[in-house]
Amino acid sequence: MTHTVQSSSSYKQEDKVYHQLQLQCHQCRTEPQTRCVYPVMWAEKVGKQLGHPTRSVAGWLVSKFLNIRNRVLEENAVQLCGIQPGDTVLELGHGPGLGLQSAAKLLTEPVGHLIGVDYSEFMHQMASEHMKELVASGKVTLHHCDVAAMPLADSTVDKVFHCNCYYFWPDLREGATEIHRVMKPGGLMVTTLRLFNVATMAAKQVMPGENWHPEAYMAALRDSGFTDVRMEDKQHKHITFQAIYATALK
Ligand SMILES: C[S@@+](CC[C@H](N)C(=O)[O-])C[C@H]1O[C@@H](n2cnc3c(N)ncnc32)[C@H](O)[C@@H]1O
Repeated sequence: MTHTVQSSSSYKQEDKVYHQLQLQCHQCRTEPQTRCVYPVMWAEKVGKQLGHPTRSVAGWLVSKFLNIRNRVLEENAVQLCGIQPGDTVLELGHGPGLGLQSAAKLLTEPVGHLIGVDYSEFMHQMASEHMKELVASGKVTLHHCDVAAMPLADSTVDKVFHCNCYYFWPDLREGATEIHRVMKPGGLMVTTLRLFNVATMAAKQVMPGENWHPEAYMAALRDSGFTDVRMEDKQHKHITFQAIYATALK
């Protein structure tokens, strides 16, 4: 069986992408010349689940993937934002909760408080389950909400971190403005990413649009009142990753 595209104009764009990517079809194992559209459909499906995991087989697989693949990014983001024992710390788009668990260990003073936000109900419930004792004690608060509208008071957060999250925001400026609003003057935000992997996924149309470009996010941060916005290459054992830093100027 071949998944050949006929003359339908709606398929022409996917057909072109398929040729650009030189992918082999997962369904029929045909070569690019057969013009199969399955890779594009598959990429879009994966992208949707990465950006908003749902309670489904695909969402469950994505949560396993995140736990295995992103531990390094999550743990390094926590380290790089220099959490102090009495800080109020916020993670955006926490997913299954690896970074939250890592940050909670550093908040050893009674006033230290950890907040997480994620707009996937599935991820919110999964992280709530993993952290149920800390949530019950009041040390951790998890909100099921959009980064662009967080139920947090102005200027209350010392440190913000996030991994693999901003690429999915429809409006980077809106997200950055909201982060700036909740941060204390001089507060530090760190996001970690593996740029090579992100660019590879973007080329396969897994990422929606162009917001994955670090330059786009850094420009939105500067426009929203952050200063000292920069990206640095980092190394963790054999893994290269990038860290974007921004300081809230108020
Ligand atoms: C690719 S997952 C990354 C999860 C985790 N940070 C990691 O690196 O393993 C992206 C997460 O960000 C969340 N997310 C994406 N856009 C969001 C938004 N606008 N507001 C809140 N959460 C968002 C998704 O629901 C998902 O849990």
